[in-house]
Amino acid sequence: SVCLHCLTLWERTLIAVKPDGVHRRLVGQIIQRFEQRGFKLVGLKMLKVPEDLLTQHYCQLRSKPFFPRLLEYMSSGPVVAMVWEGHKVVQASRVMVGHTNPAEAQAGTVRGDFSVLIIYRNVVHASDSLEGAQREIQLWFTGKELVNWDCCDQSFTCEL
Ligand code: TYD
Repeated sequence: SVCLHCLTLWERTLIAVKPDGVHRRLVGQIIQRFEQRGFKLVGLKMLKVPEDLLTQHYCQLRSKPFFPRLLEYMSSGPVVAMVWEGHKVVQASRVMVGHTNPAEAQAGTVRGDFSVLIIYRNVVHASDSLEGAQREIQLWFTGKELVNWDCCDQSFTCEL
């Protein structure tokens, strides 16, 4: 949606707390980081992810050797899926989430602070580009599940 204050188009991105993050009770801490950064929550749901959604979500990885294990892990418990909106939220979220491989993730990132060693148990998903975010949001959420609203402090969180 458009910022009523500066009229720039806000980005949206898909963030998902993966099964290990839910099992480890990290949902609250992850939401807190995005709130604290000034982003706006516009969609939130918990689900056991159907296999067809997972295969579509990770379609670019389907030929990788780790693909079956990735699907198995992503089905090992519920996921908390969210859509966050804000100025440059796609890139900012990638930085906040950190490197795919927890061993390489910087301290201060979600993966750098909460994940250990195992690459496929890396706590959280964040869309990797604007196009990827749009594709993933459409896969995971219906239009009705996304809430358009104006946050009372938006004049402080926009660019101008
Ligand atoms: P990818 O989209 O490359 O990373 P990111 O989640 O950081 O955007 O990979 C998707 C997921 O696949 C990743 O979060 C964990 C898993 N994965 C592995 O299990 N092994 C691997 O070697 C890679 C690259 C990814």
